[in-house]
Amino acid sequence: MLKGSPGLIDLLDRPLRDLRISVTDRCNFRCTYCMPREVFGADHVFLRSDEVLTHDEIARLATIFVSLGVHKVRITGGEPLARPGVEGLVGALAGIEGIDDLALTTNGARLARKAELLREHGLHRLTVSLDSLDQAVFSAINDVGFPVGRVLEGIKRAERAGFESIKINMVVRRGLNDHDVVPMAKYFRGSGHVVRFIEYMDVGATNGWKREDVVPSEEILRALDAVYRLVPVDSPHQGEVARRYRYADGAGEIGVISSITQPFCGDCSRARIAANGVLYTCLFSSSGLDLRSLVRSGASDAELAATIRSVWAARADRFSEQRSAADPTRRRVEMSVIGG
Ligand code: GTP
Ligand code: 5AD
Ligand code: SF4
Ligand code: SF4
Repeated sequence: MLKGSPGLIDLLDRPLRDLRISVTDRCNFRCTYCMPREVFGADHVFLRSDEVLTHDEIARLATIFVSLGVHKVRITGGEPLARPGVEGLVGALAGIEGIDDLALTTNGARLARKAELLREHGLHRLTVSLDSLDQAVFSAINDVGFPVGRVLEGIKRAERAGFESIKINMVVRRGLNDHDVVPMAKYFRGSGHVVRFIEYMDVGATNGWKREDVVPSEEILRALDAVYRLVPVDSPHQGEVARRYRYADGAGEIGVISSITQPFCGDCSRARIAANGVLYTCLFSSSGLDLRSLVRSGASDAELAATIRSVWAARADRFSEQRSAADPTRRRVEMSVIGG
């Protein structure tokens, strides 16, 4: 076992605590804000299977990250459940001592089939992306006409499988699904699941993001508060991206994620490994460190740890706080590769 790395902080005094691992760049949806069909069409070249990290490589890297301070791991994609045998990877990660929070973000399409298997293999928490309950709107967003009822059925199966928590992520875009905010809250109130309303972000370079499309969290909170009174909740978790609120009548909690209007770079403790094994220290990075080549060239655990440590120690990313000063033409890694 590697020694821990007490005191590993970046240039802005932020420790390394969370690791987000994208396990595939593929997805069965073509959400217009993430994998627009014009860019991710039939001729799009996805990573070959030998370009994607294997389960063993991911588990090895995760163990090294734990030795450097990580205790929270989230599996992302693309769509992670599109990766064959992903439950085996969940099992491997769940067995790593020191990971005390293991979560996965999914579009829910395959959840009805996979929920129990994921739970049995040791997944703690689940987050389901769901942008509307209205079939016409949901179809317009996922662009493959996927039935919303099947995602809801997946969530029901996940409930029965007994996850520690299930969250629902709704990315809100003006004129597209902003009228679905209150219905979404209404549907999940009292279910025990937390809906998080997310400001649409300018991730990647293909979604044609415009500031006017963003619905500020304050506006979402006002719309919700007009119907169900909300009370702020103090979060005990440092580095959490969501601001939490509870319904005054006791029907549960919601969250807002305000990367645009209230950036949270100040305590960002997240590292990301993309599906191709590149390590990024910010969601908006344009380049990263190729861990896959290092692993496959025979680097030892100690060498890998030293390299990751030096990358983290040199980190000064705070893109969301600098957004307005950023060069809009700068190349950025796509959401489907880096995993959100
Ligand atoms: P919890 O551990 O449950 O709090 O998960 P999470 O909210 O960190 O992860 P999730 O995958 O559910 O992401 C929710 C939203 O926050 C998505 O839109 C992410 O892209 C966004 N997000 C997560 N981490 C970061 C971050 O470091 N920076 C920015 N700007 N957005 C982030
Ligand atoms: N802005 C905000 N959130 C996004 N997601 C995907 N693209 C964007 C974007 N442009 C969300 C997904 C998923 C999470 C990982 O990130 O809906 O829930
Ligand atoms: Fe797939 Fe999620 Fe991207 Fe939609 S947001 S295309 S479900 S990876
Ligand atoms: Fe962290 Fe970059 Fe997101 Fe800021 S923009 S919170 S530094 S990932």
